[in-house]
Amino acid sequence: MRILLLGGTAEARALAARLHPDVDIVSSLAGRIPDPALPVGAVRIGGFGGVGGLRKWLCNEHIDAVIDATHPFAATITAHAAQACDSLNVPYLLLARPAWDPGDALVVASDSQAAEAVARQRFARVFLTTGRSGVGAFADSHAWFLIRAVTAPDGAVLPRRRQVVLSRGPYRYDGEFALLREHRIDALVTKNSGGEMTRAKLDAAAALDIPVVMVSRPPQPPGVATADGVDEAVEWAASI
Ligand SMILES: NC(=O)c1ccc[n+]([C@@H]2O[C@H](COP(=O)([O-])OP(=O)(O)OC[C@H]3O[C@@H](n4cnc5c(N)ncnc54)[C@H](OP(=O)(O)O)[C@@H]3O)[C@@H](O)[C@H]2O)c1
Repeated sequence: MRILLLGGTAEARALAARLHPDVDIVSSLAGRIPDPALPVGAVRIGGFGGVGGLRKWLCNEHIDAVIDATHPFAATITAHAAQACDSLNVPYLLLARPAWDPGDALVVASDSQAAEAVARQRFARVFLTTGRSGVGAFADSHAWFLIRAVTAPDGAVLPRRRQVVLSRGPYRYDGEFALLREHRIDALVTKNSGGEMTRAKLDAAAALDIPVVMVSRPPQPPGVATADGVDEAVEWAASI
């Protein structure tokens, strides 16, 4: 049994640690960030070259199953993997961590809708945590932004009034609370990433009565097998 584990998340690393060395796994990372946290076991880095490239790679590497533990917003690789596996009859599992309950958050469908909401609500000091690829949607905003990302937003046109903080989770409640207070933040913009590593900002925002604009997840490919945690994915791997 040889499994491709599509990663780039803490869940993917935890799953690799659970499966290795009993199962022959190859973890795959997109190669977006320098010095990524690496899972145990074999790792390959870089895109496959679309669905066709992925299909060819799965055949050449004699892959028996694919577990997709990529981030819930990594919709392109998920669509490619589901399609490639379907066409090759290779079992595919999507490990999707549960979404956060949006509570009172203003839920929007995209970064540009989030930017519209910021303008409409006249927020002045925004903590923007949607990642570097979505920052360009806020370029025309008059608000001031505290932009937190893992790597510097490049290429995107950035909002004129901003401070960029480069860091990687996990984040703790006390630190998030202090950050929101220190920068006099009046709105938090976040993706609905789910998981514990980055949820402290929601708790801190709630404690400070700071409104939240939450970008909802892209849809999952229809009809695929899903697991919402590492334990379930381990069971699935044992069952195929
Ligand atoms: N999006 C987020 O908010 C976020 C947050 C944390 C971590 N990540 C991780 O960062 C990676 C990139 O995210 P994204 O949103 O840019 O992805 P994406 O838009 O879904 O994928 C864009 C392209 O990147 C390549 N790719 C993505 N994930 C890959 C993987 N695990 N292994 C090999 N190639 C991969 C594929 O290139 P080809 O078409 O050439 O195969 C894919 O078509 C993902 O692996 C994800 O788990 C993303």
